[in-house]
Amino acid sequence: MKESDIGSATSTIILISGYGTNLQAILDQIINNQLPIKIISVLSDNPKAYGIERAKKSGIPTKIINYNSFTKKADFRQSIEDNIKKLDPNLIVLAGYMRILSTDFCHQFKGKILNIHPSLLPKFKGFNTYQRVLSSGDEFHGSTVHFVTAELDSGPLILQYRTRIITDENPNQLRKRVQLGEHQIYPIAIRWFAEGTLKMVEGETVLRGKRITKPEILEEI
Ligand code: GRF
Repeated sequence: MKESDIGSATSTIILISGYGTNLQAILDQIINNQLPIKIISVLSDNPKAYGIERAKKSGIPTKIINYNSFTKKADFRQSIEDNIKKLDPNLIVLAGYMRILSTDFCHQFKGKILNIHPSLLPKFKGFNTYQRVLSSGDEFHGSTVHFVTAELDSGPLILQYRTRIITDENPNQLRKRVQLGEHQIYPIAIRWFAEGTLKMVEGETVLRGKRITKPEILEEI
């Protein structure tokens, strides 16, 4: 059996743009039989994304749709979305994917797209969250797994990793600490989804049968 054959319940596509440490955390859990998903494709908009190598090493099918080879953003988006639709996954996991999905696509796959964003949403949507939180004087930072809707970084929240900011740490040091937490919370949320304990219902997160208005929180130990 190949590693990619382990877990057949939830057919999953993972979208990446970069180094792929979150992808690796997911792969590691599949290999350890702790995540009942089958990754049917890892898609990247960036031909240099190291995550593609990680997927190949695990025997996962990969596809690169190079953002820079399109003159129109809409054509790129169409191409990547057509590729996903053809594979008809049960779950789409954005793991450091730096492009935006179309509104139509978000509607079509409503409740089936997860993202991880490096802030304690709804705080610090968008880019440069580490610099922004350090300048803000906030006491805590972290990362959030949420459902994706058409509005950027605004879908229903699921699970957060939270850590206290250390005096004088720089954005890079904070990022490294938060990413270690991401590698814990993303596989947990994906497992909940795959096991059917996590759903999006009428625009809200439903966990273990109950609507939650605030995300679950995993604190740094
Ligand atoms: C993660 O830190 C995630 O929060 C953000 O993009 C980063 C991707 O890192 N969305 P990696 O490619 O998984 O290492």
